[in-house]
Amino acid sequence: MLKKFAIIVTTVVFLFSTNVFSQESDNMNNKEERMQWFNDAKLGIFIHWGIYSVNGIDESWSFFNDYIPYEDYMKQLDGFSASNYNPKEWVTLIEESGAKYAVITTKHHDGIALWDTEMSDLNVVEKTSSKRDLIMPFVKELRRNDIKVGLYYSILDWSHPDYPNFTKTKKRYVDDSLRWAKFTEFNIGQIKEISKEFNPDLLWFDGDWEQSAEKWKSKEIKALLREQNSDIIINSRLQGYGDYATPEQGLPITKPNDKYWELCMTMNDSWGYQGNDNNYKTTDQIIRIFSQCIWMGGNLLLDIGPKADGTIPVEQTKILKELGRWTNKHETAIFDTKAGLPANCFFGPSTLSADSTVVYLFLPYDPKGEIMLKGVNNKVNRVWVVGNGTKLEHNVYLKPYWSNKPGLISINVPDSVLDKNTTVIAVLLDGKLDLKD
Ligand code: GLC
Repeated sequence: MLKKFAIIVTTVVFLFSTNVFSQESDNMNNKEERMQWFNDAKLGIFIHWGIYSVNGIDESWSFFNDYIPYEDYMKQLDGFSASNYNPKEWVTLIEESGAKYAVITTKHHDGIALWDTEMSDLNVVEKTSSKRDLIMPFVKELRRNDIKVGLYYSILDWSHPDYPNFTKTKKRYVDDSLRWAKFTEFNIGQIKEISKEFNPDLLWFDGDWEQSAEKWKSKEIKALLREQNSDIIINSRLQGYGDYATPEQGLPITKPNDKYWELCMTMNDSWGYQGNDNNYKTTDQIIRIFSQCIWMGGNLLLDIGPKADGTIPVEQTKILKELGRWTNKHETAIFDTKAGLPANCFFGPSTLSADSTVVYLFLPYDPKGEIMLKGVNNKVNRVWVVGNGTKLEHNVYLKPYWSNKPGLISINVPDSVLDKNTTVIAVLLDGKLDLKD
């Protein structure tokens, strides 16, 4: 009897431990599998759309920072018409830019939901002249075009009567567990709604800095999202419970430690539409920044801010189209690639094909005839210009027969093959990249 019991116990322990073990290794593989599309996508379009586009002022922050009284901020609700909103046109433009995913604000820190939430009447259906759910038509269009669906959700809500912070100078309360519990119930309710209704591929939280993981219930939130969609990707702004890092506006100088990361960046200096902000980066600058992101294995999430009527400003449309010309021409060097060469090997950004046999060299400058590659210990089989196929000559210098150092590979790049933005050169190696100092 005792022996039988012991066998059962050992079997149970064994099963349990192998199960735990396999679950853990599963999770590791799972994460890589889950992150695969994100890793290959490289370019996403961020969309900040909300009532702040009516006056063209800072999204939510303008009342939080006391630049405008809350009541005046909220008056913008009346002007938010979405009367020319054409999600099909949005998605065509996003696709044209080369982006593989989009992330749209379902609710910013001002608490105004862009979908028909049942959790509160502070939503565009009930409070604005748009009178309809603005998220679903966009989600449907994205899916129809095979573009991954990302939803931005501000986990803090400065409008909610039970959220402690209202503006930077006014707090509703400091410590009140009952009111906090009410807010949490509401917050989780909304998160459940967007997860169930739209089943996003990616949830982009924001605003987590105001409370701890414990207070937000980050762990529970992650679990409920995974329950709805076990493959969902969550950004880092959930107080430690996300899948990837989100540096904002600042381009990292060296490759970040996190395996997965995404730089989110505005085209001018504003997330939402601001007609007075003409400080646009040029397409050329955006391409240079983008090239540096993918060089370091990251993505770029480039922001647009549609107007209150739903049209995308001409400056932004122009940038997306120009960017699209470049990404389409150079798609083999951009999408499905890996981080490129260490900075000392080449003067400029680079990427590597997924099988590591092709190095793509990005030339954001005029090379004046010649570029050089150091530390590559392979034989070069072929060199060509990406997007037009022209074969280029190369030579190897500093490689006497007795040296075991890699030579200096020099490639001739005639002016006639230069792209008007960044030129990309492909270098096919005799095998997987072998770097040697
Ligand atoms: C910041 C701001 C917010 C903006 C976001 C985008 O966290 O709070 O206004 O939406 O960055 O990354």
